Amino acid sequence: MRSEDRAILEGGTMDSHSADMVEFGPRTHVLVTGGAGFLGSALVDLLLARHCSVTVIDDLSNGLLSNLPVGDPRLTVRAFRVGDPAFNAAVRDEVGQADAVFHLASPIGVQRAHKERFAVTSGILESGCSIVEACRLHRRPLLYTSSSEVYGSGRDRPITESDPVMTDIRPRWGYAAAKAAVEHLVAGLLFDFGIPAWIVRPFNMAGPRQRSATGLVLPVFVNAALRGEALVVHDDGEQRRAFLHVADAAEGLLLVMQCRSLQGRPVNLGGSEAVQIGKLARMVVEATETNAPIVMKPSNAVYGDRFAATYDRVPDTGLLTAMTGWRALRSTKQTIMDCIEHKRTERVIA
Ligand SMILES: NC(=O)c1ccc[n+]([C@@H]2O[C@H](COP(=O)([O-])OP(=O)(O)OC[C@H]3O[C@@H](n4cnc5c(N)ncnc54)[C@H](O)[C@@H]3O)[C@@H](O)[C@H]2O)c1
Repeated sequence: MRSEDRAILEGGTMDSHSADMVEFGPRTHVLVTGGAGFLGSALVDLLLARHCSVTVIDDLSNGLLSNLPVGDPRLTVRAFRVGDPAFNAAVRDEVGQADAVFHLASPIGVQRAHKERFAVTSGILESGCSIVEACRLHRRPLLYTSSSEVYGSGRDRPITESDPVMTDIRPRWGYAAAKAAVEHLVAGLLFDFGIPAWIVRPFNMAGPRQRSATGLVLPVFVNAALRGEALVVHDDGEQRRAFLHVADAAEGLLLVMQCRSLQGRPVNLGGSEAVQIGKLARMVVEATETNAPIVMKPSNAVYGDRFAATYDRVPDTGLLTAMTGWRALRSTKQTIMDCIEHKRTERVIA
């Protein structure tokens, strides 16, 4: 017997809510932390399209109510910070009422991780502890979004889940170290308590509703191009990333949580088209039909000397595809176009 299966059996009898398999349909109530954010709101759209009822907990630190169909009777939004001790009881109540929990709430962005290491690290740990403890108490299935940041500086080939987690004490890696620590708590839910639990490591996601304020490269480039301002490419611009459309990412999360074999092990989620950041800047200028200039700057000149730059970071998503049949349906070009379209609409509304 596989150790995972033994852990599930030894964890005791599950009540009807924590059945091993999660189905997403009219009788499923789902809790999404961070549901007013970029990925969270795409996931909420998908869950509502599957006729689930959904509760979102979001402190609106980076999320927006306008990302959500507020007013839909199947949707409840609770605005507070997961991890704030004053709301631990509320978190436990919401988890207790849910059939499945997605924990996406997190401070994000390399820029913020580098500049506010303490707040970012503690934010991830506190919210992670609060959610995991509530899921342990009520024996609720949990999917946790970790991050490709846990792989550290990147590799010159696609990264698989068996690549080691590699970070050091430089400020940027506080985010990654905290994400990795919470991965252990989530794995402990399964292996120590027999509660279904999944760990997803998203790589670069992009598309509608992603905010440029967090410093994420595609919305920053699109915003700059639409304003006719310079697109600032760090270092030599040859570092490669693979961008995944947020709608494909949300589909991936649902499929992971329906896959028993993926329980308790990290799963990469990301795009397959590797693109150099310098080329991405040129694609954005072309797609926006602007003459915005592209300038190169050393990342240390932007972030300071202790910045840990990352060279190539491209995922191998073979595990996810093999286990669930998932594949990205939208190209990088479409992802860029959807991001531009969203930013243009925002500008019209503003
Ligand atoms: N966007 C990416 O490319 C990417 C890559 C790797 C991992 N991730 C992870 O995916 C998840 C979603 O990221 P996103 O890009 O949608 O970010 P986002 O900032 O748009 O969404 C996160 C949401 O969580 C909320 N939030 C933050 N801390 C909270 C707390 N303690 N309590 C309640 N709400 C809180 C924010 O207001 C925001 O709405 C995060 O866990 C992030 O670390 C994202």
